[in-house]
Amino acid sequence: MIDKKVVTLLNEQINKEFFSAYLYLDIANFYAHKNLLGYENWFKVQAQEEMAHALLFRQYLLNNGYAVEFPSIGDPTKKYEDNKAPLLEALKHEQYVTASINAIYEQGVLLKDYRTLQFLDWFIKEQGEEEMNAQDNLQKYELFGSDPKSLYMLDRELLTRVFTAPSLVL
Ligand code: FEO
Repeated sequence: MIDKKVVTLLNEQINKEFFSAYLYLDIANFYAHKNLLGYENWFKVQAQEEMAHALLFRQYLLNNGYAVEFPSIGDPTKKYEDNKAPLLEALKHEQYVTASINAIYEQGVLLKDYRTLQFLDWFIKEQGEEEMNAQDNLQKYELFGSDPKSLYMLDRELLTRVFTAPSLVL
């Protein structure tokens, strides 16, 4: 039995993960228009990861017999003034998602919901990696992004990223 408050937060998290996918696809579109196809690829793969996260939250609710809700997903469209701006946005967004998952965790601790805490452990670790990746992208751009040759190499490197399904299986 999972407390109603936790069920609501888990449902809201599904929406946040799908919103993340939208946000990253919008960023992928931005880079596609700039012909930075490595950056486009990186964010397209990131969007796939976010959809996989959403599906894990969905599956967890279903496995425990709770209703899954799909309210509409917000419009992620933003105007980015330069190539660095989306990278900063991505880092800020991951910090927001970390805070959101931490808030569910805190509620789980409060309510002694050990099952949900164990499920969320994977996401706590995952958020550490997601923030690190976003920080890494931003730092590399700050270091090398202003030199066209270095930016070309960086873009080529990001083109190699491929989607791998989450290690968590429910
Ligand atoms: Fe699913 Fe990037 O957090």
